Amino acid sequence: KLPKQVTIIEVGPRDGLQNEQNFVPTEVKAAFIRKLKAAGIKEMELTSFVSPKWVPQMRDAYDIVENCLTEDSRDIVLAPNRKGVERVYETGCRAIAVFVGVSSGFNRKNINKSTEEALEETLPLVKEMKERNYFVRACISTAFHCPYEGKVDPYETLAICKAFRDAGVDELSVADTIGQANPLEAFSLFSLLKRELPDVLMTAHFHDTRKMALPNILASMQAGVTRFDASAGGLGGCPFAPGATGNVATEDVVYMLDSMGISTGIDLEKLTGAIREVSSHISRKIESGYYNLSL
Ligand code: HMG
Ligand code: MG
Repeated sequence: KLPKQVTIIEVGPRDGLQNEQNFVPTEVKAAFIRKLKAAGIKEMELTSFVSPKWVPQMRDAYDIVENCLTEDSRDIVLAPNRKGVERVYETGCRAIAVFVGVSSGFNRKNINKSTEEALEETLPLVKEMKERNYFVRACISTAFHCPYEGKVDPYETLAICKAFRDAGVDELSVADTIGQANPLEAFSLFSLLKRELPDVLMTAHFHDTRKMALPNILASMQAGVTRFDASAGGLGGCPFAPGATGNVATEDVVYMLDSMGISTGIDLEKLTGAIREVSSHISRKIESGYYNLSL
């Protein structure tokens, strides 16, 4: 049974741009965000408060938040540690995402900590943010496969998801970081997570490295998931996950869902206009099927 309605969480301004070598001017990022909102996006990762030494593209996080927060959308920012969270406390932003991979091999490369060390830092921060009434999302990387350790045990993913649920998160965004999962794995993991964690918003985050993201989204919907992260133009990838190309393209997801009669509230024409806004600043070609047909 498929849903009638699906929520897209746009991650283009964050995941989409973090891997881009050329610095995208702050005003271009802000215009991109504004056009995405005008296209109907209601939940979006705007930027991340990470170390500018690690991800120089995100060094304008504060300015992005100052320029782009609006009342009518859930504007989320990422923070990897206490320093990041405290930087967010200085802004008007009310929704914060923490991120931890299931595998230590990935966490060491991405945040310079083991999984255990990352949980020790992050779980108390989640409790603190909930006490301060923030919307808290936890992004769970390498939920299926790790570029350094191979296949990940679904019960390890479940255990980490449960730890964040117990700490009080509102949402889990469970990620196939390097786009290696197949639809059977997607159906099986999301069936398990939906059964064990029925009270938390459950979002799937698929990278499209092997062009499996759309079939994985269909399989996840069959497992009961109705929330999907996607990136306009299919931009994205984690700089510390070799082989991770872009996220699934928002326009391809919206096109598929529209044609299946599943509503997202997103206007495809306005969405392609938003992609055009950044495309000339991106060093790689935009590969999404829908965008290229619309040119
Ligand atoms: P570290 O080098 O171990 O930490 O990095 P440190 O505490 O020694 O700090 C190094 C420097 O950064 C210091 O500056 C700190 O002050 C500063 P210095 O004293 O040398 O001048 N610093 C910060 N500055 C601003 N904001 C901060 C911050 N923290 C420290 N929050 C650290 C550890 C976690 C900071 C680093 O590894 C980091 O920033 N990593 C982030 C990597 C990243 O952004 N990855 C991509 C996002 S995750 C993702 O894409 C996956 C996802 O899409 C889901 C999926 O697909 O799997 C979500
Ligand atoms: Mg990602």
